[in-house]
Amino acid sequence: MEHKFTRLLVTSALPYANGPIHLGHLAGAYLPADIFVRYQRLHKRDVLFISGSDEHGVPITITAEKEKITPQAVVDRFHEMNKEAFRKFGISFDIYSRTSNPIHHETAKEFFLDLLEKKFLIDKEEEQFYDEQAGMFLPDRYVEGVCPNCGSEHARGDQCDSCGAYYNQLQLKKPVSLVSGKTPVVRTTKHWYLRLGAFQQRLEAYIETKSSDWKENVLQQTRSWLKEGLQDRAVTRDLTWGVPVPIPGVEGKVLYVWFEAVLGYISATKEWAAAQHTPERWKEYWQDDATRYVAFIGKDNIVFHTIVFPAILMGKGGYVLPDNVPANEFLNLEGGKFSKSRHHAIDVKDILEQFPADMVRYALATNLPETKDSDFYWKDFQAKVNNELADILGNFINRTLAFAGKNFGSALPARGALNQRDAELIAYIAGAPDRVGTLIERFKFRDAVAEMMNLARAANKYFNDSEPWKTIKRDPDACATTINICLQTVRSLAILFAPVIPFASETMWSMLNLSVPLHTEGWASSGELRIPDGHMLGTPSILFAKIEDGTIAAELEKLGGVVETAAVQEPEKKTMMPIKPVITYDDFAKIDLRVGKITACVPVPKSKKLLRLTIELGEEQRQVVAGIAEQRTPEAIIGASVIIVANLAPATLMGVESQGMILATHGSGKEFALLTVTNDVPSGSAIK
Ligand code: MF3
Ligand code: ZN
Repeated sequence: MEHKFTRLLVTSALPYANGPIHLGHLAGAYLPADIFVRYQRLHKRDVLFISGSDEHGVPITITAEKEKITPQAVVDRFHEMNKEAFRKFGISFDIYSRTSNPIHHETAKEFFLDLLEKKFLIDKEEEQFYDEQAGMFLPDRYVEGVCPNCGSEHARGDQCDSCGAYYNQLQLKKPVSLVSGKTPVVRTTKHWYLRLGAFQQRLEAYIETKSSDWKENVLQQTRSWLKEGLQDRAVTRDLTWGVPVPIPGVEGKVLYVWFEAVLGYISATKEWAAAQHTPERWKEYWQDDATRYVAFIGKDNIVFHTIVFPAILMGKGGYVLPDNVPANEFLNLEGGKFSKSRHHAIDVKDILEQFPADMVRYALATNLPETKDSDFYWKDFQAKVNNELADILGNFINRTLAFAGKNFGSALPARGALNQRDAELIAYIAGAPDRVGTLIERFKFRDAVAEMMNLARAANKYFNDSEPWKTIKRDPDACATTINICLQTVRSLAILFAPVIPFASETMWSMLNLSVPLHTEGWASSGELRIPDGHMLGTPSILFAKIEDGTIAAELEKLGGVVETAAVQEPEKKTMMPIKPVITYDDFAKIDLRVGKITACVPVPKSKKLLRLTIELGEEQRQVVAGIAEQRTPEAIIGASVIIVANLAPATLMGVESQGMILATHGSGKEFALLTVTNDVPSGSAIK
């Protein structure tokens, strides 16, 4: 790869300090970044790896209220906890900072005031929902109502899960505050807006220069935003927790977490530079064209890093923009989404109490959600550890060192004449640093790890086919050659695997008793046979202990929901939706509920969520569009007798007319149920 860059800046999304880091986080933005960074360091490139806690935002204040402590106490707890979890997992940040630090507040204010002066920020008075009981304006995620587009209930503040429509909060019908359960009022409030439109052309040009490098999912989301035309976006909120709007006389308003959180990367770099006693050095990484900036994130953060953050940086001027934003999709767990409330999650802290970090790193790395969502299965984890780490890599290293100890007094025997098999393995080793390296440079970490393991596999086969336990008597020279090459391969494997299983690599290194530290040897040297003849080896130990079935069964048991243990699932901890205001019988009687029989059902084209149902209602036939495609297949519901709101005004969803609505519980997974009656009831029957 060509390098016009002389240094590398790598960031991982700043996780909210509002809960523990779990495997889903690691697979999204931390493990890939760490593999990338460790690899670059082995090339001895100048690289800085930055992250930290995102300590502002509404969810943190809600946690604080629930626990009757201050937001600062919430973030203090999770910041320390997560910092420690990352450390134990071997994520090698140069700094793990936090956005409640004064240096961050300073940085965010400086950007805000600069953009304000340049008129990239403008203020506007706008109406917004206000919860009088709670005494607060309601952010989008704290108000629910009826979708203005499809009429479905429990639509979110700015977006409907049933039909996918996006709208302004105030268009929501029958709004309910999720804070108090009351109907909010409308109040006027002043906010500052980032004029993203002013950057439209520059952003389009910037994105086009990346069209051959960036991942498809990242380009797609970014282009679709650009295509719709960039709108002004509010970058302030009516809250008290956060970076206060730095304008005299403005009270009770803070910078929107998304405006300031991304700037946390810069503040963290400043903090790092200060700690190195080179306070100006952060500028090298952020303000010099010779820096290549790579921002690792999860897919929910894409446009904030490809549009909003670049626009802020362009507005301020003189900053490097992301050269790549390798966003990952999501990791699921045993076929379901990670969910804190349902105890369907694996926290990093917990898994590291049971298993060495490298086992988890390896299993995750082979299964990263690089191009589509992937799943963590405990059985799969066990298989990866037992069949690959233990049986292939561990076994090869162990048999090689044990053999050398027993037959060569732990001194590296010299190579004699090479046969074809020897030459082939040596050639294969020589090509490994490039084969693996190219994949890492292209962010194809799964393939890179597979390629590493391929070398261990080839080496194991080489050991078997060379039969050193036979040649030791028959042809000692050939045996010495075999063992020399095997030991050299152990060294190569230690370097090649170091970005993925750094702890085990160090152990391999000390088993070889090499005097120069692993990280000073350099990536390319993994292709060479560098251990000198006669070198005294260290003592071998078991690198990876196999995992018993019982251990895996116990882990499965700890998970709530979805898996085999569903019967002992813990009760739902989620708070119930508030009960709506009282209605009269007459209100209720206006709703005409009928039994309808589903006679046909097909997916709505281009929609992930919608099914088109044909429903028999006595003599009549209705076409109903229902947002249940993620919960039910057509086959599963054809023939069912459901309950339908028969006098609902028709609506059009994704171009298909819907003449009624069928009843189901609100939610997904275990929370989802379609209301049905037994089939003997004739269709069209009224329900009172
Ligand atoms: N804390 C947010 C999240 O986890 C944002 C992370 S990226 C940042 O989704 F740059 F904005 F910090
Ligand atoms: Zn809708």
